[in-house]
Amino acid sequence: MIEENNEKVLILDFGSQYAQLIARRVRENNVFSEIVSHKITAEQIQKTNPKGIVLSGGPASVYVKNAPWCDEEIIKLRIPILGICYGMQLGCQMLGAAVKPTSTREYGRTVCTVNNESKLFKSLARDLAVWMSHGDQVVELPTEFESLAFTRNCPYAAVKHKKKAFYGVQFHPEVTHTPQGGQIIRNFLYEICGCKGDWKMHSYIEKSLGDIRKQVGDGRVVCGLSGGVDSAVATALIHKAIGNHLSCIFIDNGLLRNYEAEEVIKTFKDNFTIDLHVINAQNRFLDKLKGMTDPERKRKVIGHEFIEIFKEEAKKISGARFLAQGTLYPDVIESIPAHGGPTVTIKSHHNVGGLPAELGFELVEPLRFLFKDEVRKIGEELGLPEELVWRHPFPGPGLAIRIIGEVTTQRLEILRNADKIVIEEIRKAGIYRSIAQCFAVLLPLSTVGVMGDERSYENIIAIRAVETTDFMTADWYRIPHDVLGIISNRIINEVKGVNRVVYDISTKPPSTIEWE
Ligand code: XMP
Repeated sequence: MIEENNEKVLILDFGSQYAQLIARRVRENNVFSEIVSHKITAEQIQKTNPKGIVLSGGPASVYVKNAPWCDEEIIKLRIPILGICYGMQLGCQMLGAAVKPTSTREYGRTVCTVNNESKLFKSLARDLAVWMSHGDQVVELPTEFESLAFTRNCPYAAVKHKKKAFYGVQFHPEVTHTPQGGQIIRNFLYEICGCKGDWKMHSYIEKSLGDIRKQVGDGRVVCGLSGGVDSAVATALIHKAIGNHLSCIFIDNGLLRNYEAEEVIKTFKDNFTIDLHVINAQNRFLDKLKGMTDPERKRKVIGHEFIEIFKEEAKKISGARFLAQGTLYPDVIESIPAHGGPTVTIKSHHNVGGLPAELGFELVEPLRFLFKDEVRKIGEELGLPEELVWRHPFPGPGLAIRIIGEVTTQRLEILRNADKIVIEEIRKAGIYRSIAQCFAVLLPLSTVGVMGDERSYENIIAIRAVETTDFMTADWYRIPHDVLGIISNRIINEVKGVNRVVYDISTKPPSTIEWE
């Protein structure tokens, strides 16, 4: 395991929508964190030797039948525990406190007053803005506990056990709406758990290079480059580890953005001198997509074709035994459905785990412990161009799922040109990095317009821009009106075949980020 030598904090997930956020906040403080099921046993925890444990929030109530529970022996391990929201209620209840529904749900920003000194609130002001989201709370606190803070509606907003290293906060320190939350988590890690902070991207690279060399020996690795940041960073890392024992395959499916294929080739073939096999498969994909309008069928056809071509090409690389993938940590965390029910397929990509096992390769996944922001840091350290490292995520099926309806060469051309303008203008406005994903969508509708003295009947482009940290939920990004104005103007004037631009103001859920 890559992280075996690092200090570690375990996050027991009770179905919280913020579990990944907690993990990232811990890592931002240079401490490795791992999300595990709340069903993990005390014995299993002990084996991994964590410096601290966080009990996450969750949608259940601790007093209902079948509420998610954890092994009560955990408390006896003498490992510091921080319970957040549901995690606080659970820990407190296990230690003798009573939890009850509140008469008024507390949701959103509120002020929390610290009324007792503790390591958890070290260096913080007495009044703190915090984010609450709860319908239950601790109402009776046994004498073994000390109250640390309160809010107008919550008498025990933070508590500490007097003898055991258990701390609880009813609010969410992991969200940005709790501005001092980072410091609270830092205090837990450094003041309470005694962490030193040895999780640094530079040492991760060093360790990872050794692991890759050990796994691969003098074997040959094949890597599929997509143009996205994950496969690019995985490629750069593996190349640094094993040099010319790496061969890359880049399949140009004709569904990429403006000049994307050229940029990838330039970066890896010219700058990194990697053995890169570029496959021009534009016609193959377009032929398969002919007449197709159903989003899921498009995805399946593209995915299937990709695998076929990859198999054909990989066979030509003699001696290849390993397959590199840019799998990230969020892809490998065991997901816990918040309400206990089976998960449903919203879009098929969520259930696709890369290339099939039948290819017979052993997997090399050097990023499987990392979040995207950590991958970007590594990309920067490895000297990948800023443009590539900070590129917004792009779906595997590419522009095919941003062209609503049939994908044709002509419609691809329209979308590519419009998308290029959107990206250019948000870069110019200096907001590219603050948007998680931004793109143009081509709609299957024509509307009437007037250009010069002529009536036009042409396409509509929609602009989609979202803010999100995990892509599971997202808010629409407020692009300033003047920037939207410039984008609209430029698209209508410069992209032949478009006479109307609209802006998507839907959140996820209930909408999704992509339109198909
Ligand atoms: P949705 O549309 O499900 O998107 O809200 C969430 C994130 O996933 C990306 N996405 C895909 N990525 N293959 C991929 O590799 C796909 O079929 C696919 N569909 C959506 C989307 O761009 C967003 O970042």
